[in-house]
Amino acid sequence: MRLFPVRFSSSIPKMIDFYSQFNPSPLSIKQFIDFGQNACEKKSYIFLRKELPVRLANIMKEIALLPDNLLHTHSVNQVNSWYVKSFEEVLEYEKADPTHDNLKSFCSALEHIRNRHSDVVQTMAQGVLEMKAIENGNVDSSMETSVQYFLDRLYMSRISIRMLINQHTILFGQSAESQGRHVGCLDPACKLSDVVHDAYENARFLCDQYYLVSPELEIEEHNRMPGESLPIRTVYVPSHLYHMLFELFKNSMRAVVEHHDQDECDKLPPIKVVIVRGKEDICVKISDQGGGIARSQTDQLFKYMYSTAPQPSKSDLHTVPLAGYGYGLPISRLYARYFHGDIVLLSCEGYGTDAIIYLKALSDEANELLPIFNKTSSKFYRATVPTGDWSNQNSDMNTRQMNASGPKKIVNGAL
Ligand SMILES: Nc1ncnc2c1ncn2[C@@H]1O[C@H](COP(=O)(O)OP(=O)(O)OP(=O)(O)O)[C@@H](O)[C@H]1O
Ligand SMILES: [Mg+2]
Repeated sequence: MRLFPVRFSSSIPKMIDFYSQFNPSPLSIKQFIDFGQNACEKKSYIFLRKELPVRLANIMKEIALLPDNLLHTHSVNQVNSWYVKSFEEVLEYEKADPTHDNLKSFCSALEHIRNRHSDVVQTMAQGVLEMKAIENGNVDSSMETSVQYFLDRLYMSRISIRMLINQHTILFGQSAESQGRHVGCLDPACKLSDVVHDAYENARFLCDQYYLVSPELEIEEHNRMPGESLPIRTVYVPSHLYHMLFELFKNSMRAVVEHHDQDECDKLPPIKVVIVRGKEDICVKISDQGGGIARSQTDQLFKYMYSTAPQPSKSDLHTVPLAGYGYGLPISRLYARYFHGDIVLLSCEGYGTDAIIYLKALSDEANELLPIFNKTSSKFYRATVPTGDWSNQNSDMNTRQMNASGPKKIVNGAL
């Protein structure tokens, strides 16, 4: 369905241009913690009233570059209007002094913005489906690449904006009371095995509901830092780690149960988790014997909407399915990459899969990874499909695909 463009006051496009000229300022986990431990609401306000419009404007410029048949879908129009509204609301504080009343209303404005954007992922996914319907399913590979590139950047920007809003509202909002050792949504001594157990139990609950059976968990820890003991603890956002683990457990459980016959179900191989702290990295490896993934499929795994599960029915919108939207892996990898970690999958077809979550062990190295709007990123949306320069057109040796395949390969720190 084609709709009228989003309405906004005439000064907004100019303000978007203005704020999008600034690069977002990435913060490290250490900076979040240091700031939170000596929290000063005025300082946070002054930082956010510039940083939020910068991050919003950077991604809004990219939304505007989307191909028309995606940009003008009902859902993308809706997402766009949320961004415009939130951008306008934050700008109301552009020149407002940090008085008691302004600080209070800023905090509740941020809470409103967070709620307004809570459905961005689903709505954007719906937009992509609408575009596919308009194109009768014939979306060419250049379009697919642009959409994948954009969604990674939109969702990463969203993760970062929510992080900033959460830190401010948890530290200074109405319900800001003693939070124990937590600093906003960060836990300075996050016990990894606890998060593993939580995520496993909740994934197992879904697995039991769906298949009436689920694999057991085996967990071991190794701390390779001299003088440090077990359990391994680190500074991290537990909800981000939980998200990644929950998605990986759901995938492993589905693979294990489906790979084993009904009559073998009482002896399902366990899912094994190894947590290791090294000097630079913390690794959480989740190994399953779920039959693995063929090498020909591995390029697809982190694509939005790639799924081998039946699509969950629309009537189940408010129940969590074990699998089916194809967003589990790509979004989990964004959470890992957000603080310069990663998620990697290694598989032996016919046997099983190892999924490894890498986190930065040092909080001053765990910097936010943020998309920047610039000439490189805008060119990406206009690029045409190049002819492959290897005999196999699908090979990831082809130049364009090598550039598109990972954050480090795209120029200048753009995601
Ligand atoms: N451990 C695994 N073993 C075998 N196949 C896997 C494993 N993890 C992922 N896959 C394959 O990768 C596909 C994509 O996974 P992803 O988590 O992104 O989406 P999904 O599980 O299908 O849906 P959802 O969005 O609900 O997670 C899965 O459908 C499955 O085919
Ligand atoms: Mg999944």
